[in-house]
Amino acid sequence: MNEILDTMLARRATKRFDAAHKIPDETLAAILHAARTAPTAFNLQNWRFLVVRDPVIRAAIKEVAWHQPQIEECSALIVLCADMHAYAKDPGRYWKDAPEDMREKYVTMITQYYENNPAMQRDEAFRSAGMAAYALMMAAAAHGYDTCPMDGFDFEQVADIIRLPKDHALVMFVAVGKGTGALPPHGGRIPDADIVAYDRF
Ligand SMILES: Cc1cc2nc3c(=O)[nH]c(=O)nc-3n(C[C@H](O)[C@H](O)[C@H](O)COP(=O)(O)O)c2cc1C
Repeated sequence: MNEILDTMLARRATKRFDAAHKIPDETLAAILHAARTAPTAFNLQNWRFLVVRDPVIRAAIKEVAWHQPQIEECSALIVLCADMHAYAKDPGRYWKDAPEDMREKYVTMITQYYENNPAMQRDEAFRSAGMAAYALMMAAAAHGYDTCPMDGFDFEQVADIIRLPKDHALVMFVAVGKGTGALPPHGGRIPDADIVAYDRF
């Protein structure tokens, strides 16, 4: 089996982390750097990663996240967000390395595709940040870290706590750290036949 598959198959949502473990800054930076390889439509790179380090902010978030211990015990709490208005913020920078004519073509397409379409702006934010979350989880695993994807929190209250900009979507958390203790039993996976369809539903 190859290492990517091994990592995917071994991953579990980790419920308890070693609160004493400090993740080195360079390791966290490397994980986040790898997460940004997650693809985005039109190369918008609209994901935004908020790293919550301040224990006071972590405690406030835990209060509105069902008191889940991961929030405070993890070594890095990453709040996955996305800028819904990334399409309008100097979009040429998303194609800065491309030839000029290609860049101009993409800027025109990006503008036409997203402006006046707030539903698409929001959907795209969730698609992008969802992909980045899994990329982040795989990168963390490659660096020897466990993760827990999380959306068990009050979105409005967390948005207030982190001062989420109005044009950003709050998507989910990924808690990163060193897992401790035994994992709870897995819920199980439904058969492939229940989730895969061909041609039409
Ligand atoms: C979007 C999302 C939100 C989740 N929220 C939480 C959460 O708030 N707390 C938690 O302990 N696990 C959370 N989980 C983890 C799931 O419970 C877990 O992924 C699922 O039970 C499958 O287990 P596995 O990831 O170990 O295979 C979440 C997972 C996803 C993808």
